[in-house]
Amino acid sequence: MALTDADMVEFGPATADDVPAIVALLTDDELGRTRESNALEPYQKAFERIDADPNHLLVVGRFGGRVVCCLQLTVLPCMTHGGSTRGQIEGVRVHRELRGRGIGYVMMWWVIEQAKERGCDLLQLTTDRRRAGAERFYEKHGFSTTHHGMKLALGRP
Ligand SMILES: CC(C)(COP(=O)(O)OP(=O)(O)OC[C@H]1O[C@@H](n2cnc3c(N)ncnc32)[C@H](O)[C@@H]1OP(=O)(O)O)[C@@H](O)C(=O)NCCC(=O)NCCS
Repeated sequence: MALTDADMVEFGPATADDVPAIVALLTDDELGRTRESNALEPYQKAFERIDADPNHLLVVGRFGGRVVCCLQLTVLPCMTHGGSTRGQIEGVRVHRELRGRGIGYVMMWWVIEQAKERGCDLLQLTTDRRRAGAERFYEKHGFSTTHHGMKLALGRP
């Protein structure tokens, strides 16, 4: 695929038909391939829950009709910070063959505007420490490492 201009990627909400392409993006990743699965049904069920809840926005970027990137924004109403609204970002992926061309940058810019429109006062995310370069990618948008993330696995490995 020839792509010279990240601005040619069109962003919008994912549809049910995009689920296989999103799963492919999540799986084609050093960490993703150890934790994602070939079984589409759980992803389709997750998509139905995401799609039915206005506090979730599953984003895809399309180029030439093909899904080339994705991320998920979740709006979290909070009691803290004076009843603030936070946006949580998850599952940021750009197709392997198209990385380093600014598509991720434009996708993040797009979702930051969406978060503002949804009333978010702050955006937060975690990034696995094994992901070389990911911190630098987010820092370009002004994210900074102010907190330590902690996780506790419950249920499925
Ligand atoms: C991180 C990622 C979303 C960036 O998307 P992108 O379209 O390549 O990003 P851009 O072209 O806008 O910016 C490139 C920057 O991303 C960072 N980056 C991180 N991983 C990278 C990778 N595998 N390839 C290229 N850039 C990467 C670099 O800091 C690079 O900055 P540099 O040009 O100063 O080196 C994409 O590389 C990707 O999907 N990586 C694998 C999954 C991942 O790490 N996701 C983030 C999870 S928290």
